[in-house]
Amino acid sequence: MGSVPDGRPGADTGLALERAAELLRGARHGLALTGAGVSAESGIPTFRGEGGLWTQYDPVKVASIESFLADPAAYWLVSRERGRVALAARPNPGHLALAELEAAGRLVAIVTQNTDGLHRDAGSRRVLELHGSGRTVECLTCGRTEPRSEVQARLDVEMPPRCKHCGGAVLKPTVVLFGEPMPAEVTQEAFELASKTDVMLVAGTSLVVFPAADVPLRAMRSGARMIVVNAEPTPFDRFAEVVIHGRSGEVLPEIARLTGG
Ligand code: OAD
Repeated sequence: MGSVPDGRPGADTGLALERAAELLRGARHGLALTGAGVSAESGIPTFRGEGGLWTQYDPVKVASIESFLADPAAYWLVSRERGRVALAARPNPGHLALAELEAAGRLVAIVTQNTDGLHRDAGSRRVLELHGSGRTVECLTCGRTEPRSEVQARLDVEMPPRCKHCGGAVLKPTVVLFGEPMPAEVTQEAFELASKTDVMLVAGTSLVVFPAADVPLRAMRSGARMIVVNAEPTPFDRFAEVVIHGRSGEVLPEIARLTGG
């Protein structure tokens, strides 16, 4: 519980958990922002840090819209492996705790950078996916969408996968690649929630990717108090009232328990 990545317990973790629970108990418009770290305990590798996807691949080469259009097969070869893992993944106790906090009225919504769909699987109702959804793919020519699970099943024989409806145009997951804008309405909604929130809970994100990291920045500028739960330090720790360095699958359930429904 509340341990730092090398397993040593954080000295003030107990107090910090209590303080986080106290803040959430008093929250009227609590908001969460999550990132890849929240799904790490579901078996989906993060992007940065130890074992991160971007330590193996250059994101500009495999995950930008320019590189996708130039060589979609190169993108799909990486995406095939990540998709296999993501589609098989199940929510972990961290996702479930966030759903509980929402059901108990402590959070009004979860803004996530994750595309794995695990917050909804965990029962969260208002989920704003800033970087799109990996559960569907779209045809860049006719705009039709298909479930990712169906496309995933044919990736071993069709690389890159092509649209079944419009004569073979290349398919792209409905995720935001580098160089693409974030979905306008969802982003607008997230920023509006951020400017109204009184308690901003940030979990499992390195907070280095913008505009997603603008969500907690806006919240703070509007006077929100911030809780950061992450395996390692983030650039926003110094602005937070509570910082807990630990695994979200352990820390968030403890916060939810102490918050008391
Ligand atoms: P990152 O991989 O940048 O950061 C994940 C953070 O989670 C790191 O700071 C880890 O220390 C932390 N972490 C790892 N395991 C954890 C655990 N079990 N519990 C708590 N924290 C843990 O992922 P994001 O911040 O989500 O964008 O990355 C943001 C965006 O960058 C992604 O959405 C993606 C990526 O490039 C696009 O693809 C557009």
